[in-house]
Parts: sequence; structure tokens; C-alpha cells
Amino acid sequence: MKILGIETSCDETAAAVVEDGVRILSNQIASQVEIHARYGGIVPEVASRQHLLAIIPIIKQAMTEAGVSWGDVDGIAVTIGPGLAGSLLVGVNVAKAMALAHRLPITGVNHLEGHIYANWLGNSSVNFPLLCLIVSGGHSDLVLMKGHGDYVVLGRTRDDAAGEAFDKAARILGLGYPGGPAIEQAAKHGTAASLKLPRAWLKGSSNFSFSGVKTALLRLVEGDKISLTANQGSRLPTGNDAAAGFQEAVIEVLVTKTIAAAKEHRVQQTLMAGGVASNGLLRRWLVDNSPIPVLVPEPLLCTDNAAMIAACGYYCFQAGKVSSLDLDVVPSLKMA
Ligand code: KG4
Ligand code: ZN
Repeated sequence: MKILGIETSCDETAAAVVEDGVRILSNQIASQVEIHARYGGIVPEVASRQHLLAIIPIIKQAMTEAGVSWGDVDGIAVTIGPGLAGSLLVGVNVAKAMALAHRLPITGVNHLEGHIYANWLGNSSVNFPLLCLIVSGGHSDLVLMKGHGDYVVLGRTRDDAAGEAFDKAARILGLGYPGGPAIEQAAKHGTAASLKLPRAWLKGSSNFSFSGVKTALLRLVEGDKISLTANQGSRLPTGNDAAAGFQEAVIEVLVTKTIAAAKEHRVQQTLMAGGVASNGLLRRWLVDNSPIPVLVPEPLLCTDNAAMIAACGYYCFQAGKVSSLDLDVVPSLKMA
């Protein structure tokens, strides 16, 4: 079964063709990151206009790369939320038009479920029950899955999401947008031990909190306790040290709480998903410290893409979840 996936929830216009939920035939992404970097963050109005320009070419490219025509496509899967309303509307309306024109079934996919299903791409060894750590720009959730489409949210962030914290910390340190990759790069040239930042453990729960560590960093920068300019004689931690210290503070909490939840719920595997899961240190620490096997999609499949939406859509169709043509966007859609 070949599914065309369409993803426009944020600032990537993406289309992909995936066979049987696991085999990627094509995976095309038009990124707007350079446009939004000029503004230091995503401008929703600009994002939807860019989606309008890119969506038809990117669908054509995905079908060409996969070597399929409309007659070969068995269904369309499109992200309906969570995300920016104006961005989601572009993907959903184009998907509905294609479904109507080519008489294809359509299914609306939750973007967060899509992130989880990136783990099935090219991988036939996913076993239930499993725990998934979803860490993206808008979410930090620990989700227990006992089967396809069966989600129990064990914990989530009480304030900032992990990716949001990386983006805010990068802004504080003057490292630009998007913050996650910028912090990871800067941290490679710094020493984490030079700047110990607080960790919010929220003991006894699987919830997270990342606004405190970001505020602690801001106070240190405002109090001139971090040297952001190249001042050779200074004994203060540098911006690179601060990036390394911040990265470790966030990742130590994510790894410790994920391993604790995996043990408590006796899962067979732990999965990682979302843009922050492309972080090399997080991947290494979780893989190296977890007594339970850990699966991590390749970095390109952790950040937003349409192959994960097509993979998730395959399991939605298998479960008989076919949407009607009055399908609408749900910008604040939750997991389960
Ligand atoms: O999943 P994603 O691509 O989009 C959302 O659904 O939000 O995640 C984007 C988030 C951003 O906050 C970005 O800074 C973060 O993931 N991110 C990273 C890395 N790459 C992307 N965070 C830490 N380290 C990275 N290498
Ligand atoms: Zn995402």
C-alpha cells in the first residue's frame, strides 16, 4: 500500500511516498528556515505564504522521486495538527483537493503521532509495549504505547518544551535560530562543567519543566557572569561553555526521567522522536545509559518530514480511520 504523506504544520513544506508504513520511496522537504532566521523565529503569516508557493512542486517532486503516478497511490495522509492554523490549512486543503480529484481515501494525522512513527521507517523490529520520548519545538511528552494507535501520556512539560528551551537559550546567548542545532554546535567548543545550571526533577512524576534552567541562564547573562564576547583574559565561562552547560542540564533530565519511566512500565523498547531527538548528545546518553533497548530514527527523520506522516497514515488506514472531505485543521490537537 503506497501512501502519499503531506506535512505543513510549521515551517517545512514536505511530501513523501511510503510503502506499507516502512519503506521510504521518496522524502522531499522544502525548508523555510533561512527566511525565518532573518526574524529570529517563525513568522506565521510568512510561513503559510511559503507553503502555498512550495506545496504543489514538492508533491510533484515526491511522486517523481518515488516513480509513482496518481494511479499508483492508495491513500493520502495529511497533518491536521498541532501546529500553526494558517500553515496546516495549506496542506489539508491541497490534500482534500487531491483526494477528491483522484478519488483517493484521506486520513488526518496527528503530527506528534507522526513523529513517533518515524521509528517504523526502515525498521521492522519495533516491539510493544514501548515508551516514546517526544521532544520537539512545542512538546516534551513521555508516551506509553501498548499497540498501534494506543497512547497513554505518562508525562509532559509543565512549561517550555525542550526544543523551545533550546531556541530561547540560543537567543539569550546570541546564537541565532533555530536554536537546537546552534547550541549543539557551540557546545562542542565549550566545557559543560564550567557552568552548572539547575535541573528541575519534579520527583515522583514523569513531567518536565525547562523554563527554570532557561531563566537561570538569562540571569547569569544579564548579571555579566558569562563572557559572550571573545575576552581572552576573562575567567568567566564563555558562550560555548554556557551552551554546553545548558545542553547537559536539559539532556540529563530527559535521559534520567525517560529511563525511570521505561523501567517502571517494564517496556520492551524506548523510542525517541521529534527535532530534539536529532541531538547527538541526547542520542548517545540515552542509548549508552538505558538498560532497555533504545531506537532512534536517523536525524533527518526526527525533524519535521512527511515520510513519518505517511507511515502513521498507513496504520490509520489499517485501523479503518478514513476521514471525510470536511476534514479540518486542529491547531491545538493533543496526544490521546
Ligand atoms: O520536531 P521539530 O522539527 O518541529 C516541531 O514539531 O516542533 O522540532 C523542532 C525543534 C526546535 O525547537 C529545534 O531547536 C529543535 O527541535 N532541534 C534541536 C536540534 N535540532 C532541532 N534541539 C537540540 N539539538 C538539535 N540538534
Ligand atoms: Zn514536529
